[in-house]
Amino acid sequence: MIKVQFAATPERWETYAEPMRAGFSNAGLDVDLRVDHTPDAVDYVIYAPNGPLKDFSPYTSCKAVLSLWAGVEKVVGNTSLTMPLCRMVDPGLTAGMVEWVAGHVLRYHLDIDRSIATQDQWQPRVPPLAMERPVTVLGLGALGRACAETLAQLGFPVTGWSRSPKVIEGITCQHGDDGLTRALAGAEIVVLLLPDTPATENMLNAETLARLPRGARIINPGRGPLIDDDALLAALDSGQIAHATLDVFRIEPLPAEHRYWAHPNVTVTPHIAAETRVVTSAQVIAENIRRGEAGEPFLHLVDRELGY
Ligand SMILES: NC(=O)c1ccc[n+]([C@@H]2O[C@H](COP(=O)([O-])OP(=O)(O)OC[C@H]3O[C@@H](n4cnc5c(N)ncnc54)[C@H](OP(=O)(O)O)[C@@H]3O)[C@@H](O)[C@H]2O)c1
Repeated sequence: MIKVQFAATPERWETYAEPMRAGFSNAGLDVDLRVDHTPDAVDYVIYAPNGPLKDFSPYTSCKAVLSLWAGVEKVVGNTSLTMPLCRMVDPGLTAGMVEWVAGHVLRYHLDIDRSIATQDQWQPRVPPLAMERPVTVLGLGALGRACAETLAQLGFPVTGWSRSPKVIEGITCQHGDDGLTRALAGAEIVVLLLPDTPATENMLNAETLARLPRGARIINPGRGPLIDDDALLAALDSGQIAHATLDVFRIEPLPAEHRYWAHPNVTVTPHIAAETRVVTSAQVIAENIRRGEAGEPFLHLVDRELGY
């Protein structure tokens, strides 16, 4: 029997225990899933960084740590974690992110906030078509690519930017420093779907914000440290950036005194862009355990050097 330790919050355990067991059973895996295995007997750990597990060194037989979160910045530097680490790539989470990003891009594109008529304000405003609104997605991984493809299907001219070169039908793909300049030039809406790593910290700063056309909008469902907050606030104050929709922050919940709360051109959402979905993530985890048991390569392995 395969021993799997569930190391996330107690609330998650309540929601996940039965669907996870069903996922293992459907995959033909004989799994003993618990929160209280003896660490040295555990074969796999299902993990979330906000749970109690911080020291992986007692898990001497563990073949892999399987993260419930897509972002791994809180665990990737843990030196006690010497076994393979897999991040969450969940079709349900991806679908949620695509819906959230498409919704907020369309909010900007259609100027929805200012287009709702009131009795004393009847001012028909015709927005441009999507084909006239260039959108750039920074990050073309599991989430960025799915969002870029959906936005392109809606008609937006989409440019994507990643670390390594890519070819994606319908998307203008850029990479590297020069590619970033090209990706930002002309982008009226920018979506950040990069991981939080040393290389991506403050990716949007005074210099990169200045490369955008005046009045651009920023949507950040990636991670808070991708943005230099002071630089964004200055760009919002000057009008270089017309508006920002921010789902993630350096400190969460966003502190009450943070200037983002009071800024008229900032929309704050409480880290809700995309949640790991129980049934689909259980299938992903079951597949990775099946692979581990069959001696096949794990899916979604984290590169510890790159940090994502
Ligand atoms: N707000 C939420 O609710 C929520 C939910 C889930 C995830 N997230 C965030 O979304 C992030 C992205 O998720 P994902 O699954 O799409 O990750 P992913 O598959 O690992 O993709 C990351 C993308 O970023 C690119 N990248 C990484 N470092 C870069 C650099 N230095 N310069 C340029 N591009 C770089 C990668 O380039 P390559 O393709 O060349 O490797 C890749 O295209 C997660 O890390 C997490 O922080 C947020």
